[in-house]
Amino acid sequence: MQARLHLPLWIHAFEHVSAALCAKVTAALEQAGLQPAPGGARPSGFGLALLDGVDAAVLERVRSLAAGASVLAIAVGARPPATADMWALLEAGAFDVLNWTDAAADAARIQARLERRDALQRLAGSPEVRSTLVGASPAWRALVHSVVEVAAFTESPVLITGETGTGKDQVAQLIHRLGGRGELVVLDCTTLTPELAGSELFGHERGAFTGAANARDGAFALADGGVLFLDEVGELPLPLQAQLLRVLQEHTYKRVGSNTWQRSRFRLVCATNRSLEDEVANGRFRADLYHRIAAWRCRTPPLRERGDDVLPLAQHFLALLAGPGAACGFDDAVREYLLLRDYPGNVRELRQTVARLWYRHSGPGPITIGDLAPDERPAQGAPACWPDIRFESAIRAAIDLRIGLARISQAAADIAIQLVLEQEGDNNQRAALRLGVTDRALQIRRKAWADAH
Ligand SMILES: Nc1ncnc2c1ncn2[C@@H]1O[C@H](COP(=O)(O)OP(=O)(O)O)[C@@H](O)[C@H]1O
Ligand SMILES: [Mg+2]
Repeated sequence: MQARLHLPLWIHAFEHVSAALCAKVTAALEQAGLQPAPGGARPSGFGLALLDGVDAAVLERVRSLAAGASVLAIAVGARPPATADMWALLEAGAFDVLNWTDAAADAARIQARLERRDALQRLAGSPEVRSTLVGASPAWRALVHSVVEVAAFTESPVLITGETGTGKDQVAQLIHRLGGRGELVVLDCTTLTPELAGSELFGHERGAFTGAANARDGAFALADGGVLFLDEVGELPLPLQAQLLRVLQEHTYKRVGSNTWQRSRFRLVCATNRSLEDEVANGRFRADLYHRIAAWRCRTPPLRERGDDVLPLAQHFLALLAGPGAACGFDDAVREYLLLRDYPGNVRELRQTVARLWYRHSGPGPITIGDLAPDERPAQGAPACWPDIRFESAIRAAIDLRIGLARISQAAADIAIQLVLEQEGDNNQRAALRLGVTDRALQIRRKAWADAH
């Protein structure tokens, strides 16, 4: 049988798993058409971690395996791991935990999980997705993953929440494209006036009201067979919320001025920058409608939580402006400026900043600080604010990974030492001076490294 999984599959068996059991699992997978091979030190692609019991060392190893690969944990012990251990494996980066029961179905379950994961990753990494949703930071990748999953593998309504300018429209468009069905009809709820809202949503018959010279389709009719995107759904007035709920439940509606029920089936995608939970608690949003539209929720992270994406996004926007083939970049000072400034308007503000730089820029070569409008230049002599937002977000990422304080402090110190040593051409004395430590202290630290590696 031909393996359907496109990527090579490696197996990492922990020391406490017997060779015989490992061989048995391997044989069953081969039988199912997979082609497993032992994993290297830093595997990539897809892999299985065979384990019997979970402890700190196992979690640490899973964490390092999952740094470069998709890891499915397979518990091969006589008893399944405790629930808390399963969660810990997920937290360490495994994408699922399955128990090996020695049944014929085990290999099929593993194969199904891997295939779904493979399909998801292919879509998330496809040129179509990557060229419209730029970003490789963990927060952004997690979002793209969940969006691709809901779009391509379900019909579920989706609620996108996030601050302004974080890409909610972009995400809605992607859901439409990946879902591969019908039209995308966009309705901005901030523009719905009480007088026109009915007609916008339901359409109207000729002569239904003064000025209705012709019959007209509304959003529900236009979205039939496709996707209806209600932008800023938190602004929808309560009476319209009741009407929308009805359409979502019955899939039927009446045009204004008509007595005939019409049918429409569409996928609903909603976006809001408000907390709808708060709106529900305050009585401004119907709880029953909220549960309908929020069957699947995703949150577009603010730019400050994805600092690593600032420069790739800036480069992306610049390339869009400069046109195909034009090699235009930012010089170091401008890159630093882009990295250090705040973006309350998130990606939209970054895009506008890049556009202003581009419009002032002339000639070949990179964009330089002279291209910055005078009122946007950072105040001279202002003390650099540190620790800044980027530092905070790096620490936040470590906390999210449940890294302890000792390791965070140690890693910060080690990275600082490495960077200064690089800059000082490996000169211990100068590096120590710059870091404000004694030569001896730096030497001891370097020796500890050498011993550890
Ligand atoms: N990840 C991204 N990659 C490329 N462009 C993005 C990304 N996120 C947002 N943008 C751009 O930023 C701007 C604001 O995005 P938008 O989806 O309208 O935000 P929102 O609806 O959350 O206010 C748009 O010009 C959009 O093209
Ligand atoms: Mg928007």
